[in-house]
Amino acid sequence: MEKLNIGIILGSTRQGRVSTQVGKWVKKIAQQHEDANYEILDIADYNLPFFGTGTGKEQKVIAWKTKLSSMDGFVFIVQEYNHSITGALKNALDSAYEEWNNKAAGIVSYGSTGGARAAEHLRGILGELSVAAVRAHPTLSIFTDFTKSKVFQPADFHIDYVAEMLDQILSWSRALKTVRKS
Ligand SMILES: Cc1cc2nc3c(=O)[nH]c(=O)nc-3n(C[C@H](O)[C@H](O)[C@H](O)COP(=O)(O)O)c2cc1C
Repeated sequence: MEKLNIGIILGSTRQGRVSTQVGKWVKKIAQQHEDANYEILDIADYNLPFFGTGTGKEQKVIAWKTKLSSMDGFVFIVQEYNHSITGALKNALDSAYEEWNNKAAGIVSYGSTGGARAAEHLRGILGELSVAAVRAHPTLSIFTDFTKSKVFQPADFHIDYVAEMLDQILSWSRALKTVRKS
């Protein structure tokens, strides 16, 4: 069976962000879990213009859309900013449309309340983009899963829940691939 391509999207572009540590942790669990291609997609690498300020045909925008097109599903690494997702992630979501449609996604969030409020905002946005967000949703506490809010030291119990989320993403990604082909 053809391997699925799963993009692990870092939602923060902030200098000094912790999202890179969380993304690498998810990727490591994923690679030990099931045979699929897992790739970290760093929004910062694309330096996307603010949506609507250009033609939409800029090389950076095309590169972002091309990368999304090659993916079957996603894990969003979501950090809570003012009870929502980052502006950078919202802009990256707005900067594509068909490239998101009929794909599956899971959310790993963090913040003072596990990033729950940001994750719920994201679910609404994903619904509008026809991205099916799975139920399992690991929530990391900025107080107990990070040291001084900087060094990521997750509790072990999160690992099984990340694996459960990945199972759900892979199963829905496989199913939705057939929808995209029809
Ligand atoms: C502008 C800003 C707003 C924030 N607002 C919230 C918030 O509403 N709720 C929360 O739990 N944490 C909030 N935080 C804390 C972030 O969740 C925390 O700094 C996290 O590490 C940010 O992720 P990053 O390091 O990957 O950028 C905020 C941080 C920033 C910079």
